Amino acid sequence: MRKHILFGLLSVVVFFQLGVFVYREATPEWKVYQQAYREKFLEKTGTAVSASLAVKQVWNESVGRIDRCTTCHVGIDNPLFANEPQPYTTHPNLKGYMLKHPFDKFGCTLCHEGDGQALTVERTHGVVHHLDRQLLAGVYTQAACTKCHYDLYSPDLYWPEAKTLMQGKTLAKELGCGACHTIRQVGSDATLAPELSSMGSLTELAFKLLHDFSRLESENHTMRQWEWEHFKDPQKIVPGNPGAQNPKDRTPPTIMPNWGLTDDEATALTVFVLSLRDPKVERIPRAYLPKIGAHTEYLQYRP
Ligand code: HEC
Ligand code: HEC
Ligand code: HEC
Ligand code: HEC
Repeated sequence: MRKHILFGLLSVVVFFQLGVFVYREATPEWKVYQQAYREKFLEKTGTAVSASLAVKQVWNESVGRIDRCTTCHVGIDNPLFANEPQPYTTHPNLKGYMLKHPFDKFGCTLCHEGDGQALTVERTHGVVHHLDRQLLAGVYTQAACTKCHYDLYSPDLYWPEAKTLMQGKTLAKELGCGACHTIRQVGSDATLAPELSSMGSLTELAFKLLHDFSRLESENHTMRQWEWEHFKDPQKIVPGNPGAQNPKDRTPPTIMPNWGLTDDEATALTVFVLSLRDPKVERIPRAYLPKIGAHTEYLQYRP
């Protein structure tokens, strides 16, 4: 008798789980977003979208990426959606420099990193710990431009399209990072502190293995957050261990100066540091690399 009851209970559990599974499969998040896009599209244009609901993707073979971001970001190339909320909003600068990076060739993750194949908000936008590279949004996206635009570090080049990176570059020069750090991109070769030249090409895991996150204010344990808080207060994040019992274990706090940076300045320096890429790691094919010096020419015919 007991066995029968147990069997009955188990069947109910199994059926329930099956139900949840079927429901999830039938209404994944992305379908909800695509459906809402269609309704907005119909409202705006009076015509219906003819294609059926489907996962959309840019398969970027030469760079080994499959980006499905447009499955939810359906309005990304439609100027009619400029004032809609995310994920429907038109991409910024669509008619500006984005014309030089067409979505069907560049996809999204070459600039935004993140998990191109994931299809839920949690896995694309949250802090996903197994990911080598977290999604770059807002001004942080400027840390990706230097994968291809190597000339951005040139001291007399100013790009209005990458303001925060430019601010970081200027600050790095003014504050003299090159007195302690080797940064090949700006021509410094000091050895008082770790080399920074390929900082932006590290994976989250590689960074985590070498850094202590225990003193961060934020619970968001990413490389970006560590850098930011370290800029705000280096001695708090790397206090050393001056009071250790055994004199051999005593280490002084970091010598990196605390400049009393504003939040914006710390962000600019974080973007700068994350922009320092190693071309051998990024492996961007030649067809994706711009011709050096093309920018001045572009500025002339920009509207
Ligand atoms: C499952 C649907 C979905 C997918 C897939 C998706 N997004 Fe989003 N995205 C959203 C939603 C919803 C928002 C607004 C809410 C939020 O920020 O979480 C958003 C916001 C954003 C933002 C601005 C918000 C921020 O974090 O500042 C960026 C940038 C972005 N997405 C880029 C991407 C990229 C790049 C991909 C592909 C790697 C991607 N998204 C894939 C649904 C999606
Ligand atoms: C050439 C690099 C590049 C590519 C390719 C690119 N983006 Fe962006 N994207 C940016 C930059 C830079 C910003 C921030 C612009 C700003 O704040 O002015 C941005 C902003 C956004 C935003 C607005 C929210 C935010 O972070 O400011 C969304 C959403 C977004 N991108 C999604 C996408 C999706 C989806 C794709 C692929 C279809 C894509 N992007 C391709 C560079 C790129
Ligand atoms: C994967 C490589 C790649 C990345 C990443 C990239 N670009 Fe580009 N970009 C190009 C290529 C290639 C061109 C030249 C296209 C042409 O000449 O038609 C270009 C052209 C441009 C231009 C026009 C001026 C010029 O020099 O030709 C601007 C402005 C620009 N990119 C800004 C950005 C910004 C800002 C970012 C970062 C958010 C970025 N790019 C990221 C490859 C890239
Ligand atoms: C007086 C020397 C000195 C100056 C100047 C200096 N740093 Fe540092 N920096 C250090 C030392 C020492 C470390 C290693 C200990 C630590 O993490 O604080 C370090 C660590 C770092 C790290 C973490 C690197 C890693 O792999 O752990 C970054 C990023 C960094 N500095 C960026 C900068 C930037 C950007 C500037 C200029 C705004 C700068 N530093 C100026 C001495 C300096």
